[in-house]
Amino acid sequence: MSDDLLAWYDVHARAMPWRVSPADRRAGVRPDPYRVWLSEVMLQQTTVAAVRDYFRKFTAIWPRVTDLAAAADADVMAAWAGLGYYARARNLLKCARVVAHEHGGTFPDTRERLLALPGIGPYTAAAVAAIAFDRPETVLDGNVERVMARLHAVEVPLPMAKPELMDRAARLTPQARPGDYAQAVMDLGATICTPRGPACGICPWRDDCQAHARGMQADLPRKLPK
Ligand code: ADE
Repeated sequence: MSDDLLAWYDVHARAMPWRVSPADRRAGVRPDPYRVWLSEVMLQQTTVAAVRDYFRKFTAIWPRVTDLAAAADADVMAAWAGLGYYARARNLLKCARVVAHEHGGTFPDTRERLLALPGIGPYTAAAVAAIAFDRPETVLDGNVERVMARLHAVEVPLPMAKPELMDRAARLTPQARPGDYAQAVMDLGATICTPRGPACGICPWRDDCQAHARGMQADLPRKLPK
């Protein structure tokens, strides 16, 4: 099943300034862990569209993690202005300084060691390990939760369904191309398996999708009333 998604991603991967295209990856180009980490921190609770320009600005001013680590706090906070959730910017700097001063400017390459860095939680650790280092880690964000809930017709509402969705997602994570796969599931959720009006007709997982088979994709994932 992951093969079907990867074949779709090979054609439909969204271009993003921090991304290495599937073709370039095949040719041996490796993503820059600093850029992957920076993009994932920026993307928490912020859309890809909103992040693009901030990402370009940050990497123009601070092209390496050691540059960011050496920046004045006020300059980073000023550059972050408008992205919101300012604790993320403070943690960003803390993390850059730990990587620069305690890891010689090189990001650790496993989920466990990434998780030990300031401001890196389970989502970001898995995303950086998978995307930057091609570790078969499972990335579960809101998009992936929705895809898994529909694929397996999970009717338990969120947030209680999270452990089951994580388990489902982990079982699907392939050993081959886990970095592309992680980004492919997120792209599928963002562009095809959207919250409203999913484009099931062009979905690479349509024939495997329990929600589609039962015509209940619009009803999933269920959510507890706020
Ligand atoms: N949302 C958060 N991280 C993402 C990524 N790497 N690709 C697509 N959407 C994302």
